[in-house]
Amino acid sequence: MKLLIIGSKGMLGQELAKVFSNYELTLWDREELDITDEKAVNQKIRELQPELIINSAAYNAVDDCEEKFELAKKINHQGPINLAKAANKVGAFLIHYSTDYVFDGQKQEGYLEYDLPAPISKYGESKYLGEEILEHNDLTFLIRTSRLFGKSALIEGAKKSFVEIMLKLADEKEELDIVDEEVSSPTYVVDLAEQTKLLVEGDYAPGIYHVTNEGACTWCEFACEIFERANKTVKINPVACSVFPRSAKRPMFSSLINSKLPKMRSWQDALQSFLDEIGAVEKVSAPGGNKVDRIEKAPEIHLSDGFRMEEEKVDPAPLVNEELVAPESPVEKVFVEHVQQVEQKINVVSNSSTHSPRSFAPTSVKTTAGRQSDTQKNMKGIILAGGKGTRLHPLTKITSKQLLTIYNKPMVMYPLETLIKSGIKDILIIVAPEYAGQYLQLLGSGKEWGVKITYEIQDAPKGLPEAFIIGENFIGDDNVTLILGDNLFFDHDFTEDIKSFDKGGRIFAVEVPDPERFGVVEFDINKQVLSIEEKPKEPKSNYAIPGIYIFDSRVANIAKGIKPTWRPETDITEVHKAYLTINELDVRLIRGRWLDTGTFESLLQAGNIVATLEYQKKMGFNTKISGGIN
Ligand code: TTP
Repeated sequence: MKLLIIGSKGMLGQELAKVFSNYELTLWDREELDITDEKAVNQKIRELQPELIINSAAYNAVDDCEEKFELAKKINHQGPINLAKAANKVGAFLIHYSTDYVFDGQKQEGYLEYDLPAPISKYGESKYLGEEILEHNDLTFLIRTSRLFGKSALIEGAKKSFVEIMLKLADEKEELDIVDEEVSSPTYVVDLAEQTKLLVEGDYAPGIYHVTNEGACTWCEFACEIFERANKTVKINPVACSVFPRSAKRPMFSSLINSKLPKMRSWQDALQSFLDEIGAVEKVSAPGGNKVDRIEKAPEIHLSDGFRMEEEKVDPAPLVNEELVAPESPVEKVFVEHVQQVEQKINVVSNSSTHSPRSFAPTSVKTTAGRQSDTQKNMKGIILAGGKGTRLHPLTKITSKQLLTIYNKPMVMYPLETLIKSGIKDILIIVAPEYAGQYLQLLGSGKEWGVKITYEIQDAPKGLPEAFIIGENFIGDDNVTLILGDNLFFDHDFTEDIKSFDKGGRIFAVEVPDPERFGVVEFDINKQVLSIEEKPKEPKSNYAIPGIYIFDSRVANIAKGIKPTWRPETDITEVHKAYLTINELDVRLIRGRWLDTGTFESLLQAGNIVATLEYQKKMGFNTKISGGIN
């Protein structure tokens, strides 16, 4: 396989080069390619025609990113996007590395692959923006990792890794103050490179992966382990991170849980290998044979020797080593100068700086969701009836699409009927601001049908997932069924689907002749879900996902994590994929007629169907439309 490694002189890059040495290898570092230069990236990748690109280039001077956010975005966001697009053009797989710093650190138990990033630093934000590559190349593996250690980069003046610096300090100092907070997993670059190879060679679907050594620790615990194993005697004062004010906030708990790949060895075992590799252990003391005099939680914090604790590298850093001790190391200066040159050269404005949450990677997980748990939740209903209805202009220039007539009543009354017939009694209708009064006039409090109707405004049509964000308080801890205001189901009764639902997500699939217009679900021969794609150009099946979705209350948070794609809207398929990733998406086939009445043809078709059904009803045929809202 023809493999291109970018950032090949970095701490990770050099290990990747070793691990993949049996491949047809091309190694590029900043001299060969400036990843922020879109034209150069396109041209050079087109010429090389690699089958796989591994990008280990990044800007990870965490504190500096606060000041130099534009620069951080160029390298951590724009660069990877350039690579993803170029990889896509030549049909190459892409592997890119991200960081635990995309998370806010509130989740003490650690973060799963599907958890929603919420960075609390500019560095985290720039890396999170870089995760957008998943949207530009379907063949992308995104690996989040943390607290790397290994042999320093091959760049002139590159710093030593955290482990080596600790060893040096232990020789120089008798006492050290070390932060005993910020829990994360140290990861040995050699193991990370090996695991990357396993991902490439194994039967894994593109998507997000968490790759760290097993276990987690604070900085202080990490240092203690280093000193113990290297047989160093030093007095450690564990201190709070507030003792070392830094410009960027760090997550307090950011260990990454790996739920998709074989587990790696413990960080302690990996550390031992690294100490052996660099010959740091003349006489290894057995773990537990502690020579470190550790004071438990120093009540009074003191800076005995001016040593400032910072993470060595939170991300693989072929371009620069994270500043560890002195804020202005020669390495960093070299790097900054380089980047300034790059900036002058490329003159490119980075993408939006606003922090927008991201979407999820496609995956091929079999699903087992919708299962019952001990406590059955209530089911609430949401009808999303905003939108622009541009395909129905000029009709929708003067009114809301969902108020247009389908035979003998406004469109919105059909999805309302679907919810009511399924037993839902608490319904939120989300409408565009200009037509709110008309909905209220039409549907009122819902008393007429024995249900409670409330209303919310959607200021602009920012996508279907926004319904869950607008409806977050309404949903509370309950489950929710979202139905689109222009989706009409003529035959399928959702009562059982809704009543039997307890947890996770449940969506539906209908066979259609034109799947490319919808979200499409692909099944294997056992009807297990293989993939979900939004409006694919080449649909993998004829199964469209209609506009009715059942989710548990986690959906509000998931929706907040979805980033608009190239359109200024978020896609509901990203919600589905999030549940699919955690194996909690249930997809049921529905029978009968379903219409998305967003076009003149479907509007007319829906009117005709209802007219026929009404006629049959009048003539005494047994029809499904009976019991509707009139
Ligand atoms: P669409 O039919 O995708 O969008 P639209 O109604 O704006 O129509 P057009 O494409 O012709 O401009 O929307 C599906 C349903 O979801 C429809 O009932 C409108 C509703 N919707 C919202 O309420 N808010 C939104 O942000 C979006 C995207 C759709």
